Amino acid sequence: MRISVTILQYDHGIVRQVLDVVGEVIRTHRAAKHLPELKEAIMFMEQFLDRFHHAKEEKFLFPAAAEECPKVKATLERLKKEHAQARKMIHEALKALDEGDVSTFERQARELVDHMTVHISEEENQVFPVIEDCLQLETDALVHAQYEKFMNKGFGKSYYLVSEEFANDIQERLVGPGFLKGIN
Ligand SMILES: [Fe+2]
Ligand SMILES: [Fe+2]
Repeated sequence: MRISVTILQYDHGIVRQVLDVVGEVIRTHRAAKHLPELKEAIMFMEQFLDRFHHAKEEKFLFPAAAEECPKVKATLERLKKEHAQARKMIHEALKALDEGDVSTFERQARELVDHMTVHISEEENQVFPVIEDCLQLETDALVHAQYEKFMNKGFGKSYYLVSEEFANDIQERLVGPGFLKGIN
């Protein structure tokens, strides 16, 4: 077990919870009725997924893993490109919402959900197990400390609490408390 990987898996759980809710609202053709809540959900993706989670992977874990686990180096470069693609989808979805273009929003949001589902599955099933095998324990501790500093400085000590509350709240408001469905 590597704490620097476990924390990213925990992030994935929060990301998937919110993306799954967005996917469900679109799938059941209820997007037009819930545009303000969907905007909150996509803005959460901009902050939690792009600026927080992907930033931690790109700034801290991936560079360390590229050195100690050469086997995944090329894959990590591609995963970084996929982060940039996700960022573009988030921005396009927000733009469509601002313009009141519901069908473009639905298409962009659906694309984001699908793109991130595949990306997260690949990290969890193929990339992280390799990193867990080869990352030195000292490096793991260092990367973990870097995450902590990055979060406390840019997002606040209670960022996980706030993010979990948001994920539960948006789920309850958009699909009801009983909704639970993995997107793996
Ligand atoms: Fe990633
Ligand atoms: Fe990730």
